[in-house]
Amino acid sequence: MIAPRFLPAVKSCRCAYHSFSDFSIARAPSKYPPSLKILGEHHLTDEFTNVTPAILSKVDLELHTQDGHPLSTLRSIIESHYPDFSHHSSLSPIVSPWKNFDELSFPWDHPGRSMTDSYYINKSLMLRTHTSAHEIEVFRKGEDKWLLTADVYRRDEIDASHYPVFHQMEGARLYSADASGMEEVKEDNERLSQHLERSNIVIEDIPHISPTNPVQPTHDPAHSELIAKNLKLSLNSLLLRLFGSANSEEPLRVRWIEAYFPFTSPSFEVEVFFRGKWLEILGCGVVIDSTLDTANVQGKIGWAFGLGLERIAMILYSIPDIRLFWSTDARFLSQFEAGKITTFKPYSKYPSCYKDVSFWNPEGAPLHDNDFCDLVRDVAGDLVEDVKMIDSFVHPKSNRSSLCYRINYRSMDRSLSNEEINELQKNVVSRLTDTFGVEIR
Ligand code: DAH
Repeated sequence: MIAPRFLPAVKSCRCAYHSFSDFSIARAPSKYPPSLKILGEHHLTDEFTNVTPAILSKVDLELHTQDGHPLSTLRSIIESHYPDFSHHSSLSPIVSPWKNFDELSFPWDHPGRSMTDSYYINKSLMLRTHTSAHEIEVFRKGEDKWLLTADVYRRDEIDASHYPVFHQMEGARLYSADASGMEEVKEDNERLSQHLERSNIVIEDIPHISPTNPVQPTHDPAHSELIAKNLKLSLNSLLLRLFGSANSEEPLRVRWIEAYFPFTSPSFEVEVFFRGKWLEILGCGVVIDSTLDTANVQGKIGWAFGLGLERIAMILYSIPDIRLFWSTDARFLSQFEAGKITTFKPYSKYPSCYKDVSFWNPEGAPLHDNDFCDLVRDVAGDLVEDVKMIDSFVHPKSNRSSLCYRINYRSMDRSLSNEEINELQKNVVSRLTDTFGVEIR
């Protein structure tokens, strides 16, 4: 996602398609030791390594399995909505780029692969960017109905709703692609339709299949229609379970939107209307045949979805800042009880302190927004509430480009002293010059 606040010059570099030659960024390889110990194993570093200590400190936390944590409760509510599905919650976040992208038919030049968007341990290992990375291995076990919850990692900006580690839940259901399988789908569709008709939900739907959201050439269109309908009914019923009571008098409003994912066709996104806004909740679609072929699954057809847990938990628990999920403060954790959704009561808001830093961006190896944000997170961790680029210009004579970022230091748990903030800011500035070779203005 592109933050609207970024100025056009920078925005274009965030959404550009990167080629492999663009992948090298201004990082001194010597910054890393020859190997990193992650989850008990040593991995060699190389010119691709861009994981930071702040990120590596999260890989073994598994908030989604900590009893009583809001993310764990949300996981268990979703799991209980699908009682006959198997559950997976402890798969390692270290995967190959092949597994994260290629096996799922991502094009070679997909922007998600770039070092500015994803965390690499080295050329052949990365931190998964989505739970779909495990689809093939679960299908390969022969499982037809499953849910999988995991921490996922994406380099991103810093603000109240973006954090470079978040949690996703993936779900999938396969049926036999024959008459008996399709009978089963029809029965399930009938049951779900009746349930939804009796409920306070308004659904804005789109065709299951269209020329721009096509059936796969190997699928019988009638089968694909039934599966897409099953997917929609099943997810509408999950959303009703999650959001229905939060909106009690008003009907729950859900809308379906055509989407594109490399590993599904047709594909959809779902949005929920909450407190006056449409919020994107999940992506889903009919699983492409090549995914099932790779997993050695024959004669089946089915759907998959992936949703972000923080997004939903922030709404349901009224949690205002995504950093809170990582808090170990008893004033946060003690508010929650396993299995129950309750409204978070903010315990205090401590003062903000803004610090600006302006610099000339080195020509040839310019700093990316995400490089700046990772540097700030590494120095100041969760003591930073948000980072905004407040100015950028190109000097008309020298053609050099200048950037100015504003860092908002604010702890969620305590007041920060001036000395502490000055020390952090000093470290940000010295890391900027040492690691990226920028010239401070
Ligand atoms: N993995 C996608 C993401 O992170 C979400 C997604 C889309 C998952 C479609 C799926 C799917 O299983 O079928 O954006």
